[in-house]
Amino acid sequence: MTDDIEIARQGAVLSAAFARPEKKNAITGAMYEALIEAFETAERDASVGALVLSGRGGAFTAGNDIADFLAVAMHEAGEFPAWRFVSKLAEFEKPLVAAVDGLAIGVGTTLCFHCDLVYAAPQARFQMPFVDLGLVPEAGSSLLAAQRFGRAKAAEFLLLAEPFGAEQALRLGLVNAILPQGELLAHAMEKAAALAAKPREALLATRRLMRGDNEVLKAQMAAETHAFSAALKSPEAHAAFQAFLARGSK
Ligand code: COA
Repeated sequence: MTDDIEIARQGAVLSAAFARPEKKNAITGAMYEALIEAFETAERDASVGALVLSGRGGAFTAGNDIADFLAVAMHEAGEFPAWRFVSKLAEFEKPLVAAVDGLAIGVGTTLCFHCDLVYAAPQARFQMPFVDLGLVPEAGSSLLAAQRFGRAKAAEFLLLAEPFGAEQALRLGLVNAILPQGELLAHAMEKAAALAAKPREALLATRRLMRGDNEVLKAQMAAETHAFSAALKSPEAHAAFQAFLARGSK
């Protein structure tokens, strides 16, 4: 178990918070495992009506822990828990709400494509810098970014890896509303509670209809996993990970 994911329950809402602020909430294998467990608890427990994701310490998450990327790249260890997490995101049936305070990098941005409601603080900063790290997109973002933003904007975010802020995310339809930092989490919890209080079967059926047939998404995610696994082993990815990890020693 890890303390770097904080799980809490408020009424019918389960919440999971990234809580590794000294590392900008970068996600380790143990944190993915804890998140998967939270999703599975929400699936199993009929009294849970919605799940809220947030981050502590003024960041949502700076994405996958880069030291973990390097460790996975160097050792042919078992299954990378990030893959099980992103599959879980795509398959999760209950409403998912995100409160994005500060950095939302890599999977911090891509998980938002799977959320029903996303609220952001004014200082939120989204970025999908996969290519800069010698990697490829994950969590279906190679498909979902273009669906959500159009191909031209998706190219700015996935090929150029340009960051974007809360206002742009609102304009582009990734974010529902911008809230002052002090009100962000309470607002997300309130909206999640409102979803959890709706007639459950009708809500879940509507959500399934809105998401549509997810076979195309699943196939895209399988292709991404394949390409990502190959990219993780590439010299350009190793060089990028090592350059990031060497920054502190300069
Ligand atoms: N993996 C591992 N450690 C990370 C991390 C990540 N994804 N993101 C941040 N950290 C660590 C930093 O190494 C630093 O650790 P240290 O204090 O032991 O040196 C600590 O978190 C604080 O980060 P720092 O870089 O000093 O903060 P900053 O405000 O100057 O910059 C970022 C924040 C997010 C812009 C920068 O840390 C960054 O680019 N991180 C990598 C993001 C990324 O590429 N994620 C993967 C996406 S696929």
